[in-house]
Amino acid sequence: MLHLAAAVGVGQSMYEPDYYTGTNNLGTAVLLKLLLQNPVKRLVVASSMSIYGEGLYRSTDGIDLIIDGCERTAEQLKAGIWEHYDGDGNRLAPIPTS
Ligand SMILES: NC(=O)c1ccc[n+]([C@@H]2O[C@H](COP(=O)([O-])OP(=O)(O)OC[C@H]3O[C@@H](n4cnc5c(N)ncnc54)[C@H](O)[C@@H]3O)[C@@H](O)[C@H]2O)c1
Repeated sequence: MLHLAAAVGVGQSMYEPDYYTGTNNLGTAVLLKLLLQNPVKRLVVASSMSIYGEGLYRSTDGIDLIIDGCERTAEQLKAGIWEHYDGDGNRLAPIPTS
């Protein structure tokens, strides 16, 4: 089963948390309760990096190094630098979340 029903809105959910939490969390709980009576083999729920986190990166200098937990500094954010770089200034490449 693929569960895609949701109230969507990253910005609005910040000032209407009761509505978004009620629709998405309680709504999913209602679905899960119904699935107890009508089991499915697999339930796929859509999500995003808000839940998964930043994701993984790989170095681009030929060394196959997987990097987890990249963070942007306040200076990077102020300068609008969204890409990640290693300590030598090489740009990192995003790779699929496992
Ligand atoms: N579009 C994106 O970029 C993106 C990114 C990450 C995750 N998602 C997730 O993917 C899923 C689908 O998103 P979308 O972009 O297709 O949004 P969408 O608004 O097009 O689809 C959501 C659907 O859920 C329905 N819905 C809302 N409340 C409901 C309720 N109480 N009961 C039954 N149905 C209800 C809406 O009518 C709508 O058809 C969501 O869970 C969303 O959080 C979307």
